[in-house]
Amino acid sequence: MSVINKADALGKNNESANEHNKCMMSRRDFLIYSGATAGTASVMSLTLFPGTAQAKKTQARVVGYPRQLLGKLSDLKNNKPIYFNYPDNGPNSQGILVKMGVPAGGGLGPKQDVVGFSLMCTHQGGPLNGQYKVVGEHRVLGQCPFHLSTFDMRRHGIIVSGQAYESLPQVLLELDGDEIYAVGIMGLLFGRTENLIAMQEA
Ligand code: FES
Repeated sequence: MSVINKADALGKNNESANEHNKCMMSRRDFLIYSGATAGTASVMSLTLFPGTAQAKKTQARVVGYPRQLLGKLSDLKNNKPIYFNYPDNGPNSQGILVKMGVPAGGGLGPKQDVVGFSLMCTHQGGPLNGQYKVVGEHRVLGQCPFHLSTFDMRRHGIIVSGQAYESLPQVLLELDGDEIYAVGIMGLLFGRTENLIAMQEA
């Protein structure tokens, strides 16, 4: 009887590990999925009003995310977050950068343990400053002071509990030597219709 129970338990553990791995998107997949570009702008040709008498060729400027230095990998201490604003200094741009000491989806560095996230809860914009927590092997942001949402930082900011229904936007990071750059965001920042709207209006 106990052998069967152990086998069941092992099976469940493997299932749970597999589920976890499914959510631990590789950095390569993360780059592809986010579609972010490291450049600031490029120019492309397009035709306005195609197929009409007013058809006109023009050049369009395509704006990408800025590449912003956040800090140095060698300066980061395990589980000691630093804070930044990205992709601009506009509303709801506060973010957190932390070396968690455990690998994470989209994690940067030799241990894939450095991640960046928005600090604004996706539910109603509650501030998540000071809410980074280590719970065993888990790393979470929360509880949100407004309605208690908590987000899993090892698994692309998915919701662990609470009233939010969207993952926390993850900041796409790039390592250049020892320097860590923000180069994009996966997900929409709370309160914005476009992440780059402030830059486009500038
Ligand atoms: S604003 Fe964070 S849970 Fe509602």
